Parts: sequence; C-alpha cells; structure tokens
Amino acid sequence: MLSNEEIGIDLGTANILIYSKSKGMLLNEPSVVAYNTDTKSVIAVGEEAKKMVGKTPKNVIPVRPLRDGVIADFDMTSQMLKEFLKKAGKSSGMSIRKPTVVVCTPSGSTSVERRAIENAVKNYGAKQVHLIEEPIAAAIGADLPVDEPLANVIVDIGGGTSEVAIISFGGVVSSNSIRSGGDVMDEEIMNYVRKQYNMLIGIRTAELIKMEVGQAPVEHEERTMEVRGRDMVTGLPKPIQLTSTEIQGALKEILAQILETIRTTLESCPPELSGDIVDRGIILTGGGALLNGLQDWLSSEIVVPVHMAPNPLESVAVGTGRSLKMIKKLQKANK
Ligand SMILES: Nc1ncnc2c1ncn2[C@@H]1O[C@H](COP(=O)(O)OP(=O)(O)OP(=O)(O)O)[C@@H](O)[C@H]1O
Ligand SMILES: [Mg+2]
Repeated sequence: MLSNEEIGIDLGTANILIYSKSKGMLLNEPSVVAYNTDTKSVIAVGEEAKKMVGKTPKNVIPVRPLRDGVIADFDMTSQMLKEFLKKAGKSSGMSIRKPTVVVCTPSGSTSVERRAIENAVKNYGAKQVHLIEEPIAAAIGADLPVDEPLANVIVDIGGGTSEVAIISFGGVVSSNSIRSGGDVMDEEIMNYVRKQYNMLIGIRTAELIKMEVGQAPVEHEERTMEVRGRDMVTGLPKPIQLTSTEIQGALKEILAQILETIRTTLESCPPELSGDIVDRGIILTGGGALLNGLQDWLSSEIVVPVHMAPNPLESVAVGTGRSLKMIKKLQKANK
C-alpha cells in the first residue's frame, strides 16, 4: 500500500536526500534554488540550479535556503522540497501519497525551526511527520547498534555544520557542534587563492579544488591541479597550478576547529561510557569526512580508533528512512 510508504529526508545545508525504506535512494540533489528576482519565481532546483551558480544573468540568483543546517528561508525551502518530493515520486515510478515521513534535523536547530521543517513536509501531504536528530540518523545509517546501552561517537562533517555526538540507548548523551564545515573549507580556499595569487575563483571551483587537492595535515604525495580564475590586477582570465600542500595550509584552521570540537565532546563523556569509546572508537560521516587524509590525521591526533561510515554522504538519509521502528519504540519507552 502506498500509504504505508516510509520515507526519510535528510534536509542538509549542502544536499537533500530522499530515501524510501522499500525502494532505496530516490533522490540526492544539492540544496540550491535558482530564483528569478524579476518574476519572483523559482526557475530551477537542485542539480540544475547548482550548475547555474555564478553563471547566470543578474536577475537570476542562486539561493541556498538552508544555512548552517537550519531553515533560513522557509518559503523557498518548502518550494524546493515540494519539487524534490514530486521528482522522488516520479523516480520511484509512483506518486508517493500520504507517506509517513521522518525528517532529519540538526541538534542545533531550535524548536521553531523544527516546527517549520515539520510544517513544510506536512504541507506536501505527509500522513505523519517525525523528526530525528542528525547524529542518531547517521548512526542508524552506519549500522551502529544505537538502541543498546553502548556509546557510539558520531562525527558528522556536513556543508554548514560539523557535529560531534556521543549517543547511547537511542539518545544523544552529549554533543557539540560548530557552524562550519565543508562550506567554510571552500571559502578558505577562495581566500587563499585571492591572497596568494591575486586571483578570484568561484565557490564551485573552490569546492572542486577541495575534492581534488584538498588535504588534511598528514604526509602525502603531493598532487597538483590547474585552476582558472580572474586576475584581480589585469581583470583577465588566467590559469594557475595549485598543489595539495598549499591547500593543506589553507585548511589548517578549520580542521583544527573540528578537532577541538571532537576533543571537547570526548572530554565530556560520562565515565561509564568511556570504555566503550576506547574500544569502539568514533565514526566519521558527512561529505566533509571524505577530505583526503582526514581519517589518518584524526587517528594520529586522538587516541581512539577512527572509522569511516560505509557511505558518508548517504548515511543520514538511509538512517532516517530506517528509523521509524526505533522512533516508535522510543516514544513508547518515554510514555
Ligand atoms: N570528496 C570530498 N572531499 C571533501 N569534501 C567533500 C567531498 N565530497 C563532498 N564534500 C563536501 O561535503 C559537504 C556536503 O556534505 P553533506 O552532504 O554531508 O552535507 P549536508 O548534510 O548537506 O550539510 P549539513 O549536515 O551541514 O546540513 C560539501 O561541503 C561538499 O563539498
Ligand atoms: Mg548533514
């Protein structure tokens, strides 16, 4: 029955994923909207809109309605979500009607923001909407035994936020998050290129540089990449060669902040759970976890083992889609 469909939505700052428990991943698109300021209308969403970033006429602006993991522009988010749900329905070969939806919200969002998210999904016609915290969804998606009294540490490096959470028995025991992640890495790369080469590059180029020659502070074989941008002195396009060693330098500060957040969280761990953490280590997830060398670097900086989630970009969405049973169990336990 269609009405029994269980859908999980990872409403991320950088990417939105829709996962169906029965059909698998239905949609995975960037959280970007292209908006026409003259006609005040949305002209594209997702991948199509992201391709337009930095390349459109003045009256078309790319908007990221979700910032820092919360809803910055409610109308735009709700329009985008509607388009995505429509598309996900089509891709699954049926229209998803009255599904039960679980939406992942970051630990840092306020109750008002959470309600806004819930309403946006309800407006689309969900039968029931439940909310789940991102670290718990990530842990379920990474196949960790979240409903046992065992500590699991999740480090989720997303686009807008980096979050470290100790979870046990289906709940967050302790967590810390900073409002910076992959986006800040991109900005640091743009700043570096501007200062070092007097050259302007776009944010999408910066993201590609991060993926190709981005590097955590560990020894590695140097890689280079040719990058084009605009010379700030002559105003003309010019190519430069960037090395992974340079980008390593540019990312040092943001990575130090992430490490500090992990340390602070581990230090706040209740003593009864410390043993689990020493044995089980921490799990890295979120797209930022894919930065070259990150896992090795963190392993060398903290004494506990560092593991990578099987699919860091998808674990939150998968966990959200699979979480309904556990949510019901927890609701019962809390009654
Ligand atoms: N190979 C890679 N190396 C480094 N960073 C990467 C790589 N692949 C993706 N990223 C980055 O991961 C980030 C997106 O991750 P993710 O989809 O987990 O974020 P999100 O869930 O949308 O954000 P948030 O959880 O903050 O709301 C982007 O900044 C992207 O550039
Ligand atoms: Mg996320």
